[in-house]
Amino acid sequence: MKPAPQKLPRTFAVKSFGCQMNMYDGDRMAELMLAQGLTPADTADADLIVLNTCHIREKATEKVYSDIGRLRKDARKKHGGDPMIAIAGCVAQAEGAEIVTRANVDIVVGPQAYHNLPELVAKAARGESALDTGMPVETKFGALPSRRRVPPCAFLTVQEGCDKFCTYCVVPYTRGAEVSRGWQQIVDEAKALVDAGARELTLLGQNVNAWSDGPRGLHHLIAELDKISGLARIRYTTSHPNDMTQGLIDAHRDIEKLMPFLHLPVQSGSDRILKAMNRSHSRDSYLRLLERVVAARPDIALSGDFIVGFPGETEADFRDTLSLIDEVGYAQAFSFKYSPRPGTPAAGMDDQIAPEEMDERLQRLQAALNRDQAAFNARTLGRRCSVLIERKGKLPGQMLGKSPWLQSVHLLTDAAIGDLVAVDIARADPNSLSGVQRIPELVS
Ligand code: 5AD
Ligand code: SF4
Repeated sequence: MKPAPQKLPRTFAVKSFGCQMNMYDGDRMAELMLAQGLTPADTADADLIVLNTCHIREKATEKVYSDIGRLRKDARKKHGGDPMIAIAGCVAQAEGAEIVTRANVDIVVGPQAYHNLPELVAKAARGESALDTGMPVETKFGALPSRRRVPPCAFLTVQEGCDKFCTYCVVPYTRGAEVSRGWQQIVDEAKALVDAGARELTLLGQNVNAWSDGPRGLHHLIAELDKISGLARIRYTTSHPNDMTQGLIDAHRDIEKLMPFLHLPVQSGSDRILKAMNRSHSRDSYLRLLERVVAARPDIALSGDFIVGFPGETEADFRDTLSLIDEVGYAQAFSFKYSPRPGTPAAGMDDQIAPEEMDERLQRLQAALNRDQAAFNARTLGRRCSVLIERKGKLPGQMLGKSPWLQSVHLLTDAAIGDLVAVDIARADPNSLSGVQRIPELVS
């Protein structure tokens, strides 16, 4: 059904779900709306609501439909009107026009087309169909407005999409093929972000370490960003083991601004499951790779992603994952129950694992990961390190920041948000640290 004509919205709200890249996209959509003269509002008050959706796990699509219903109900209750609703992100890409038919939303916009949002809003206001799920990545980035003020830790998307086709994953279908943004565009955006207040940049990409521009790889880009004065820290996420070049490993030894942290998902410790997942690395090649990383940067904090209950996973396969965890000693990690994604090869595989089995394995896996995280935190006790202050803490005078190893650190300090302070770690809890500032040492 074609939506009835509406007035152009004057206020907006963007709600993002899922990965950091979605958070980045959500911020950019908000900036687009600000540049159009719209003002931000709560979802219950906004004339335009953008739901920036995630499709990677769980019943994402159903959740979006129930969210739409709830948001409409809230708005009607509050001001008696219907907001204009835009569905963005990976569910928009996967479902397309189906969402308009089923939920009568005004706008559907895919992750590579959201630079067209202003035009789509105008179309929807005229009562025209407003659907764009095209995939020209470069056009999108070229068309986005520059940022005004940003927090000290900012995200910068440098690469999108994935060609790896892990058999459980929907990303290659929703985000499309691997595309790298151009060198100059990234360097310009990085400088603009630092001018706007960023002190730490996290380079984002579904396969960020596959980034390239001609002969130049991610480590060349990091070396270039290292030259930006005012920028204190560089991180990147998420990486694939097969794209972890020696150049990038060496950068962890050679570039001081590159933080000692590596998120390198392995998913499983069983070669049989890795093969069925089409991961194209083995348990052993992954472990050998980490040995080289640790040789380059001995204090590096390692992080990963795990899936339990992939079709056909036996107790023995699962134990291989537990033993890999024991061998690596992760500083932190994310773990998920396998979720069949429509259209992916694994969704049609025999021997799907029972939900109770998955729950039980996830609990055991998380117990091992929590144990290792607590041990990693305990090893930082007594160390001196820099902390980048990100926000106020709950107690008077308390601030919260991050260590180089991405741990949250609480401290009492006069330092302001965006300051880097030298801290002695005085207490290590399983999920965070507390520190004492070395007065008056501010790190430049
Ligand atoms: N089921 C469960 N976890 C998944 N991931 C990706 N697809 C699925 C799925 N179908 C996890 C992987 C990936 C992270 C971003 O999400 O661990 O690394
Ligand atoms: Fe998905 Fe695998 Fe690509 Fe990661 S590497 S985005 S898990 S297909």
